[in-house]
Amino acid sequence: MGAGIAQVVAASGRRVSLHDSEAGAVERALEAMSRSLAKLAEKGGADPEDVLAYVTPADEVVPADLMIEAVVEDLAVKQELFRRADRVFPPEAVLASNTSSIPIASLAAVTDRADRVIGMHFFNPVPVLRLVEVIRAEQTSDDTTSAILELARALGKTPAEARDFPGFVSNRILMPFINEAVYALQDGIAEAEAIDTIAKLGFAHPIGPLALADLIGLDTCIAIMDVLHEGLDDPKYAPCPLLREHVAAGRMGRKSGRGFYEY
Ligand code: CAA
Repeated sequence: MGAGIAQVVAASGRRVSLHDSEAGAVERALEAMSRSLAKLAEKGGADPEDVLAYVTPADEVVPADLMIEAVVEDLAVKQELFRRADRVFPPEAVLASNTSSIPIASLAAVTDRADRVIGMHFFNPVPVLRLVEVIRAEQTSDDTTSAILELARALGKTPAEARDFPGFVSNRILMPFINEAVYALQDGIAEAEAIDTIAKLGFAHPIGPLALADLIGLDTCIAIMDVLHEGLDDPKYAPCPLLREHVAAGRMGRKSGRGFYEY
């Protein structure tokens, strides 16, 4: 998602430094951005080279006015990054997280600028989907919230505000839907294709819940469901065993070439 976020920020004429601790990840992100920008250019979008000129690969976290963090859905990893960014970024800079479920307050708490920490949750594929869920923690200031709402609009997105509660709004709705589809598959009620056809044609969804889980990543779905399960202390949010089975077998979805479907 970091690639998609960097792309939309660059396309709005803002300079972006793109950093990933994993070797080769930034190069893969730049390739994904080129492919996406080429598709958009065919429909009258900007010249891909013009947009990519705003993106600078970075070997380290570099200071800026805003950080948008999009690392793995792991509290300890995110907290470590927020601690590091808090040391490196100027005091007035805002630190935002693209987390799908981790409490923003727990990221704000490890910094000395809790009023300037906020959730800025994009949706995949970022260049296409217009929503940004803006999550304000108890500590987030009005100024930070207004600045991020304004930025989301400047990126061509529509922001919607949610409270800092497990899963916020988007995943409180989406994950039980996906999980129930996995249970329907596990219980042998229908094949994966039939389950997705029912959601696509019956509810006019662009893709079915199992194909969507593959797009999000099955490991990410489990990470989000674990946060809902523990945070809301309700067994109805526990991930379906079939999801865990697939992840244990390395079937993570699109990114690993196999999930509920083969890619
Ligand atoms: N960049 C640019 N354009 C893209 C693109 C990308 N990354 N991906 C797709 N497109 C364009 C295609 O070029 C195509 O354009 P045309 O119609 O002009 O040909 C258009 O989008 C449709 O794409 P496809 O024909 O390939 O297939 P599709 O109609 O199924 O659309 C989709 C693809 C946009 C992914 C659509 O299936 C969709 O919106 N699916 C639902 C996605 C969704 O629900 N995402 C939310 C996930 S939840 C999340 O992200 C957050 C979380 O917390 C878990």
